[in-house]
Amino acid sequence: MTKIEEIKLEDLKPKKFIEQKINEISSIIGSGLAINALSGGVDSSAVTMLGHKALGEKLKTYFIDNGLMRQDEPGYVVTLFKKLGVHVEILDAKKEFFNALKGLTDPEEKREAITQTFYKNVFGQLVKKSGAKFLLQGTIYTDVEETIAGIKRQHNILEQIGINTEESFGYKVIEPLIQLRKTGVREVAKALGLPEKVYKRPPFPGPALVARVIGEVTPERVETVRKATKIVEEELSDTKAFQYLAILHEDRVTGIRDGKRDFGLQIEVRCWESKDALKGTPTRLPYDTLDKLAQRLTTEVAGVVSVTYNITKKPPSTIEAV
Ligand code: XMP
Repeated sequence: MTKIEEIKLEDLKPKKFIEQKINEISSIIGSGLAINALSGGVDSSAVTMLGHKALGEKLKTYFIDNGLMRQDEPGYVVTLFKKLGVHVEILDAKKEFFNALKGLTDPEEKREAITQTFYKNVFGQLVKKSGAKFLLQGTIYTDVEETIAGIKRQHNILEQIGINTEESFGYKVIEPLIQLRKTGVREVAKALGLPEKVYKRPPFPGPALVARVIGEVTPERVETVRKATKIVEEELSDTKAFQYLAILHEDRVTGIRDGKRDFGLQIEVRCWESKDALKGTPTRLPYDTLDKLAQRLTTEVAGVVSVTYNITKKPPSTIEAV
């Protein structure tokens, strides 16, 4: 395993970094073809722009619709990048992902299912069809650190844990952002000309809403957490917190609806202050904000009878629940 050298924020010169990475990408790929997946997050958005500056038409960008993303995300991403001159193709892979997740409840097994479906099935097929030999992706320094430290297997960590992607999946992975942390990526994204709503967007995990569903991941349970996520994002975007999210619990609790017993769902809200996601502190939200969240989540999301707010720091908590 080659040691990755971090580029600290104070040493980062975004324009120079971009120039260097464009040269590196063009020389590795030469006249060949590359593909990349764009989720709409800051990391994959930055990689998409870098890749297109380096390769132009030789890079094909896909939005993998795994059925696990936030509401209206595919349309949002395609429209946004169209304005930036990048064509993004949507690939419907909902069935593959839900089949792979069926019956799984263990967090690391769920993460492994996402990794295998993403890299082996979906990208393996794409690579075969397109003839591309390279996958460009937005792995960052913190992803590597957490996986190596044994905290969570970040879905995108492959070569660093000994997976030979050429042997296992049939293509090589290129990771231009791997020496940067999130704040550095935001600087690069800004210098690449991405709009503020992209380079300032709160982080969203690679395994998407799977990271926020405790227990089995079914289309219905994802729909519940997707609706709750939308409400939490609407209510908390003004806080300017590092990240805010909704989690669907596995346990049900007794509640009351229309004067009758309702053995219903529990949503946990989390809102984090953090610099680089390695440590975090819950935001001291005003009680009125919490009250409004409880009101909206119990009336707008079917089946929810209980809303809690996480008051635990990371560590021992983590930012996501899975
Ligand atoms: P945790 O839950 O480990 O999250 O405290 C730390 C930060 O990383 C994001 N996250 C991920 N990002 N692939 C990613 O690209 C992953 O598998 C993954 N898991 C968590 C999380 O949203 C937080 O910002």
